[in-house]
Amino acid sequence: MPGTVGIIGAGQVGAAAAYLLATTPGISDVVLVDQDAKRAASEAADIGHAAAFNHAADVRAGAYEDLAGAKVIVITAGVSLKPGQTRLQLMQANLGIVDGIIAAVLKAAPDAVLLFATNPVDVMPALAVRRHGVPPGRAIGTGCALDSARFRERLARHLGVAPTAVHAHVLGEHGDSEVLHWSGAHAAGMSLELFAEQMGRPIGLELRATMAQDVRTSAYRIKEGKGVSNFGIGGCIARLCRAIVNDEHTAFTVSTFMEEGVAGIPATCVSLPHILSAAGASAPLKPVLDEAETEALRASAALLASSIEDGLR
Ligand code: 2OP
Repeated sequence: MPGTVGIIGAGQVGAAAAYLLATTPGISDVVLVDQDAKRAASEAADIGHAAAFNHAADVRAGAYEDLAGAKVIVITAGVSLKPGQTRLQLMQANLGIVDGIIAAVLKAAPDAVLLFATNPVDVMPALAVRRHGVPPGRAIGTGCALDSARFRERLARHLGVAPTAVHAHVLGEHGDSEVLHWSGAHAAGMSLELFAEQMGRPIGLELRATMAQDVRTSAYRIKEGKGVSNFGIGGCIARLCRAIVNDEHTAFTVSTFMEEGVAGIPATCVSLPHILSAAGASAPLKPVLDEAETEALRASAALLASSIEDGLR
């Protein structure tokens, strides 16, 4: 099983991820595990039928034992966000669920890279490292990889270019305290400001604030409208798995547990740029930030550090 990805949780997020992974280059097998085995089997069958229209991975339901040899195991199980809730408010309910899942996963696939999509995604890698001894580079939260995609999509829509033409990242918590890294955003070899001006679509302070608010509250608005936020995170999971399984060495803002602080940020689990490869995530990289961004990132990291202390006490 050269490119096997396991997914724990066959709910809407797990199913969206499995659907996209089925046609992701380099993925040979997708194994869906859920306590509701009938649901996992039905999702796997449905996705398998869609996959039959393409040259696609084998998608099947399984048990934890069937994860042996998997390269990446994605954890999506747990309680999901309800309208009016923040992600950190899910911590107590989901820590217990994910704790048991990590133990079961490690028995079956001790060397797999664990990718956490269960919220709060920045707390789960700390649980894996501190309670289960998983090396920090093999316990990855999807973190702000999704927020960065939302940021690029929002910028690209304004600028009238493809999202892939814009390089822009979100750092910190995958949640309300996240930090849009405006000073590092660029396109076509120039700063975002210059690019926006040359495109005839400048981005003033007011528009920046609106965009930041749009990015930060995306999931809340999506949930209000359709009750679940699944395709964005599904796409994010598939892209991160692709980078790991194919040993890509590409950069994403994901969260890993840091034993030591970097760039004035306290030791915690927070989204920073990392290089993803078959080994998992590299040590976090240290972006150049302006003063306001540095302060905002410190505050976001401090919030996560105290949440992790509370949760793992
Ligand atoms: C999202 O941002 C709910 O964290 C999930 O879509």
